Amino acid sequence: MSLLAEMTQKATDQGIPLSAHLDITWRCNERCVHCYLDHNGEGEMTTGEIKDVISQLADTGTFFLSISGGEPLLRRDCFEILEYARELGFSVKLKTNAVMIGAAQAARLKNLGIEQVQISIYSHLPEVHDAITKLPGSLRRSLQAIRYLRAEGVKVSITNVLMKQNVTNAKAVRLLAKELDVEFVVDPTITPMFNGDRSILNLGISNQELDEIFRTEEFIGNVGEFCAPVSEVDEDVLEGYSCSAGHTLADISPSGDVYPCVQFPMPCGNLREKSFRDIWFAISLRCRFPVAPIPLHWLGQAGVHPNSCRVRCQPSV
Ligand SMILES: C[S@@+](CC[C@H](N)C(=O)[O-])C[C@H]1O[C@@H](n2cnc3c(N)ncnc32)[C@H](O)[C@@H]1O
Ligand code: SF4
Repeated sequence: MSLLAEMTQKATDQGIPLSAHLDITWRCNERCVHCYLDHNGEGEMTTGEIKDVISQLADTGTFFLSISGGEPLLRRDCFEILEYARELGFSVKLKTNAVMIGAAQAARLKNLGIEQVQISIYSHLPEVHDAITKLPGSLRRSLQAIRYLRAEGVKVSITNVLMKQNVTNAKAVRLLAKELDVEFVVDPTITPMFNGDRSILNLGISNQELDEIFRTEEFIGNVGEFCAPVSEVDEDVLEGYSCSAGHTLADISPSGDVYPCVQFPMPCGNLREKSFRDIWFAISLRCRFPVAPIPLHWLGQAGVHPNSCRVRCQPSV
């Protein structure tokens, strides 16, 4: 068993949040047409509060920490927060649109030993990408940031969220990722807004396009394995969890609300009122034995990709 598999098994058995996703702000310098956030900056935790949360995560056994937003680099203390997380020994990933990463920021990220910088790129064409982000010049700036990061040897991943307006560009973005020597991740589903507004689901690609993506090796790897029929339900399947939300994964909002996952905005407690440990062990119990019905607006494209996210695929809960 690999070290990672051993860590995951232990975390699952003991209910340890091995991974945490921490949004440090929901403010942003882009206004992407599909964004699930309202960009409200009210009630953001202070630097001290965020450091305290990170220290509580360390005490509870978290190892993988994803710092995201909104646009995390909009916070002046973003590097201080990253530095603190690295001092405590976390494996840190930064999710960003990268338009604020220049040569100096790339060098700082290298020196901090950030595990990976994950950057959203929607198209190889500025007119398509910038129309999605609504920030003129954003593709040029994000690609320049990737070049600075690669020049420093920082690992980068391009996330390509697919919508009607950019689905035909996916292969070109994959080629661009190859040229830039970065990982490529395709995300073909659009989720509803946190506030329950489902109108952005109209931006999502058709089932036929989704089917094509899921049968294209360059996007999903081994097609046979990915599209294999669902295995028989046996004791192991019944005993296991369909995903890590609330079991080994925690999600924290800029104002300290704790959720089981970024795709599962079920409020479970606020870190200004309770400790992370108290909230977490109540969540993990609740996710193990869910008792409350899940409101419809937390559900995404029901049934579209049942293996990836149980919230997206429980229309009848
Ligand atoms: C919320 S952003 C935060 C980090 C950074 N601002 C960025 O754009 O990469 C994280 C990722 O969520 C994706 N995203 C935003 N709204 C989405 C939605 N409604 N459905 C699916 N993905 C979405 C973005 O495209 C981005 O790749
Ligand atoms: S850059 Fe990220 S947070 Fe900002 S609007 Fe786009 S998807 Fe949302």
